[in-house]
Amino acid sequence: MLNNVNYDIDITKEPPADDTARQYYFIEKAKAYVQRESEELGRPLTFCVTTFGCQMNARDSEKLCGILEKIGYVEAAEDEADFIIFNTCTVRENANMRVYGRLGQLKPRKKKNPHMMIGLCGCMMQEPEVVEKLKTSYRYVDIIFGTHNIFKFAELIVTRFESQRMVIDIWKDTDKIVEDLPVERKYSFKSGVNIMFGCNNFCSYCIVPYVRGRERSREPKEIIREIECLAADGVVEIMLLGQNVNSYHYEYPDGRVLGFAGLLKLVAESAPEMRVRFTTSHPKDMSDETIQVIAETPNVCRHIHLPVQSGSNKVLKAMNRKYTREWYLDRIAAIRKAMPDCGISTDMFTGFHDESEEDFEETLSLMREVVFDSAFMFKYSERPGTFASKNLPDNVSEEVKIDRLNRMIALQNELSAESS
Ligand code: 5AD
Ligand code: SF4
Repeated sequence: MLNNVNYDIDITKEPPADDTARQYYFIEKAKAYVQRESEELGRPLTFCVTTFGCQMNARDSEKLCGILEKIGYVEAAEDEADFIIFNTCTVRENANMRVYGRLGQLKPRKKKNPHMMIGLCGCMMQEPEVVEKLKTSYRYVDIIFGTHNIFKFAELIVTRFESQRMVIDIWKDTDKIVEDLPVERKYSFKSGVNIMFGCNNFCSYCIVPYVRGRERSREPKEIIREIECLAADGVVEIMLLGQNVNSYHYEYPDGRVLGFAGLLKLVAESAPEMRVRFTTSHPKDMSDETIQVIAETPNVCRHIHLPVQSGSNKVLKAMNRKYTREWYLDRIAAIRKAMPDCGISTDMFTGFHDESEEDFEETLSLMREVVFDSAFMFKYSERPGTFASKNLPDNVSEEVKIDRLNRMIALQNELSAESS
């Protein structure tokens, strides 16, 4: 376990004011409750964290696991665990549906096991309608929290132990970045490292800016410190994580600014034995400078995930992506010129507002032009609160969406087969 910070903690006193120290205080407090229940049961209490969605969520789950282990819970399979946590995703509608389904299955188990607790967190919890639904129809959930306050997990567990009622703590946004809490990695040799949180792009279809809040970049010295600890712990590959890593922006007290290209260079040079990856990049900010750093720095992996979303300028405009097909192709050409061997992957989805057959064919033609090494492909699902949900009707039929998605997948399979 990383960040095994030892504070001088006395749980008979009031909690400390500093955020990190305060959470170590609640970890100690929770530990006492867990120990008592384990003694009653004659076995350790167990937990299982299930992650839905992206790599940011996967990294958040490692933080949850770190806190739980520090409290004294022992990891177990979901069907055996006393404490089940779903770290949810809401980027597309089907991700939400899966959570409700899984939650329904837990109800009878909770009736049988009085020690059982259920925690829900992550992006879906940032949607007010979801929390309302849980409050009325899923009363057996114990703890609900969002994306901005996962660092408070131990404190929320203590509140639950002390109150015997559903604990709900959702923040609308935050400017806080709380460092140095425990983390339990899923893999021994590789790790994600958050460099920034949130997104300011407001692509018209996307719920992320609403559930992950405004962009906040982590201090470079904290990033480097974490990477040094990871290196000392045997990690050989890191993935710099952010919703839009190219927007990384840190202003030093003397006014100097560090952007993504500079950070990437700094990280790679300070950990020369590590392989460095990053995700996700936005095409509009994929600068020549970043491309040059990747090309010049031997330990930066030559792979770029560059979501294109659509090949049609009309659709890209409606999506508010702030680039054109031509700009995207220019970026691909710049990457290939600097690094002919660079892997390129993408995200795309079909069936957005007013997407015509011609628009869709432009996506297919872009795929043929670029030949992506791999692609994540989806069909559009309207997300509540987004610009599109209010202004751009979801007017492509489900049948057409499915047909186009299948054609897109078939083409990608064909292209991958040809290029491998
Ligand atoms: N519908 C379908 N796909 C979406 N994505 C994001 N929002 C939506 C939506 N409302 C896709 C995009 C993004 C990936 C993470 O999910 O392709 O890059
Ligand atoms: Fe969503 Fe666009 Fe931000 Fe990506 S860049 S998280 S698609 S709003």
